[in-house]
Amino acid sequence: MSLYQEALDLFDLTVDFRRDFHRHPELGFNEVRTSRIVADELSRLGYEVQTGLAKTGVVGLIQGEQPGPVALLRFDMDALPVQEDTGAEYASETPGLMHACGHDGHVAIGLTVANLLMRHREAIKGTVKLVFQPAEEGMGGAAKMIEAGILKDPAPDFALGVHVWNERPVGWVCAVPGPVMAGAEIFKIKITGRGGHGAVPHQAVDPVAASAQIITALQTIVSRNVSPLQSGVVSITQIHGGETFNVIPQAVEMAGTIRTFEPEVRKLVLERFNQVVQGVAEAMGCQAEITMQDLTPATINDRWVTERMQERIRKDWPEAELVTQYQTMGSEDMSLILNAVPGCFLLVGSMNAERNLNYAHHHPRFDFDEQVLPHAAALLASAVLEGLGEGQKKK
Ligand code: NI
Repeated sequence: MSLYQEALDLFDLTVDFRRDFHRHPELGFNEVRTSRIVADELSRLGYEVQTGLAKTGVVGLIQGEQPGPVALLRFDMDALPVQEDTGAEYASETPGLMHACGHDGHVAIGLTVANLLMRHREAIKGTVKLVFQPAEEGMGGAAKMIEAGILKDPAPDFALGVHVWNERPVGWVCAVPGPVMAGAEIFKIKITGRGGHGAVPHQAVDPVAASAQIITALQTIVSRNVSPLQSGVVSITQIHGGETFNVIPQAVEMAGTIRTFEPEVRKLVLERFNQVVQGVAEAMGCQAEITMQDLTPATINDRWVTERMQERIRKDWPEAELVTQYQTMGSEDMSLILNAVPGCFLLVGSMNAERNLNYAHHHPRFDFDEQVLPHAAALLASAVLEGLGEGQKKK
């Protein structure tokens, strides 16, 4: 029996877990109920379980009977502050909170992988670390889990993760060598001039006019500085200045985000960002203060691990549409794990337009086709059982 057929045998269990998590969404670092269920299930299956990592993180460890690499499989658990509007019978029972990104599915996939691996315990070569991570949604969960020691004792040789992907239908699977999801910076800019009367602008230094110039000039970074064959985003998403119609304000504050894939593009965009903001502000007689925060680096898949994963997908799921070139401007903190450990972050199509399961991630009507869950679980279990990391140079 193939691992996929075994995963199908577990389908009811997988869906029960997924819908239970969906009914009970929890925000980052508050996944108390979710992580308790995860820990209980891992213990029941016979894993060595660690809890309380980064508050609500859980790790399940199993050592195979045969020597081999250490595999880290990562699943995120958190929900979003979104009011659900799917009308599903398993809709969120917590007002204002919802699994609008599919992380409920990821936890269910993780528990299904845990089950599949235990059924083939004798075939496990090396060690498997199942990492259930809190707070992926821009809250730094991966960084906290790394601080809590998930990359040590034992140190993983390779890492895998998965995201259900509502941009594409079930049967689409993406394993891209190199950058697959963007790195993200968030920033604030404060432009300070000199306030004054709106009727005598020559006696003031107008930060509103300066901000308008800065916003326009920032849009030339991607269009004039970044190569047309590469990509980046600079978005100003907030602007606040002034209180009334006849007063030039003292200052204007703006905020926004930068997205890039390649490290050299990121460096270029950040350099130009500083030059443009400072230079234009100065030309307009204002001062600029920039606060830049590095949210997540780009998610970069290791070529070797990803090519091995592609081989597994071709073999285990021959009817799948395997995509080896794809990028999205979304970001993901799996990137921090992949910065330290060679690995692959898979995207698995989860859309089903006929059943209206085609809303975008983070939308109040987001829901996905659960048929993707056994496929994803079988692929990850297969990667471990077929010794994906074997033959790789030990670090
Ligand atoms: Ni997500």
